[in-house]
Amino acid sequence: MVKSLLIKGARIIDPGRNMDMIGEMYISKGIIERISSPCDTPPEANTKVVDATGLTVCPGFIDLHCHLRDPGYEHKETIATGSHAAAAGGFTTICCMPNTLPPLDTRASIDYVKNVARTECKVRILPIACITKGRQGNELTEMHELVDTGAIAFSDDGDPVANSRLMYLAMQYSTTCGVPIFEHSEEKNLADGGSMNEGWVSARLGLKGIPAEAEEIAISRDIALAKLTGAQLHICHVSTAGSVELIRRARESGLSLTAEATPHHLALTEDRVMNNPSAADNMLAYDTNAKVNPPLRTEKDRQSLLQALEEGVIDCIATDHAPHATVDKQCEFGLAAFGISGLETAFGSLMGLVHANQLKLHTMLAALTSGPASIINGNYPQAGTLQTGARADIVILDLDRKWKVDSSQFLSKGRNTPFEGYQFKGKVMATLVAGNTAYCDASLSVLNDDK
Ligand code: DOR
Repeated sequence: MVKSLLIKGARIIDPGRNMDMIGEMYISKGIIERISSPCDTPPEANTKVVDATGLTVCPGFIDLHCHLRDPGYEHKETIATGSHAAAAGGFTTICCMPNTLPPLDTRASIDYVKNVARTECKVRILPIACITKGRQGNELTEMHELVDTGAIAFSDDGDPVANSRLMYLAMQYSTTCGVPIFEHSEEKNLADGGSMNEGWVSARLGLKGIPAEAEEIAISRDIALAKLTGAQLHICHVSTAGSVELIRRARESGLSLTAEATPHHLALTEDRVMNNPSAADNMLAYDTNAKVNPPLRTEKDRQSLLQALEEGVIDCIATDHAPHATVDKQCEFGLAAFGISGLETAFGSLMGLVHANQLKLHTMLAALTSGPASIINGNYPQAGTLQTGARADIVILDLDRKWKVDSSQFLSKGRNTPFEGYQFKGKVMATLVAGNTAYCDASLSVLNDDK
């Protein structure tokens, strides 16, 4: 039986309810029983007391987009290692993409993820099912059956659904299933095997570029199809100013589509492919750890994403955690795998933007909690809130704690980070799922469940 827990002296922020106060939180049997101003009432017997003075408590983060590689690529990540990395990053709920081997396109594969999640993981794992069988883009999956089994959305992420007729049908079906389509919007013919943003850095390095228009053309089509079908469309990893404009206009016209941005697109630009500010010698011509799809873009694009978050044109921040093995990255840029291992650096990199006054703390926390919760709300109405009676999925943060990124310490198997060696200010101190400790920093070891 989980003991009761009293967290005292914390700054408590619940972005979805505009709560920001100094107070205490009482958790019993995994449920938030009370949030109140500091009071001197002695805790009930058998209550563990945590002094969180100087720390911040908010709802556990929700990641709508990560890759757990299991089944099939367990050398890159397993569902279990991915879940440990998520907990270390402050995430209590993560949604995993179906580009595994086999892909998550059958009842059995969704059941597999759910079973491993239940037996081996401390955070909640919600599977996303393929739109098309085998992610081949030819034939729709048994969408209703997959939702009945537990899929919370559909996506062929890693690839778009290129065939517009098929996407039209997928959107129609998704509407009857009551779940969103998470689309990787990319016009592959235009991207044509490029490996970074098309611009002056790609020209300088002699690398093949991916124009912003490869994303924008695809988003235009997806918006048109969402209008036609009334589907709940969610645009993954928005990376360009033009995409933001398209989403803004679609929303102004009354379409209820949603969108996400990643921490790396918010914090970095294409320059990072060439320059590593934290490297001692910086002699490499390029850094494959900065290779990601969609690619890191320009400063203008980055500023546009930040503004879109503040305005609510982009609803949430999702990591697109994409762990890869070292051999997938230690090669020529064109041959390297796309992807960044992002669960454990998300909060630190975003806090850098907060400390630099580029992003408001409340905007950032909303984009990690109430924002994503509203997109999967039908499935998990209690996620992303500190409401009394809700499950105690919470994260305890130190907004000022300094730490240096050292990927050898990651709980993820993926060491592929462009933030290696970066000094961050802002750290996850503990992550609780239904009141149970999923992660805690050594300085908060009182939270270890065995104590
Ligand atoms: O960089 C990426 N990596 N983008 C994607 O869309 C897929 C992902 C992966 O699965 O590695």
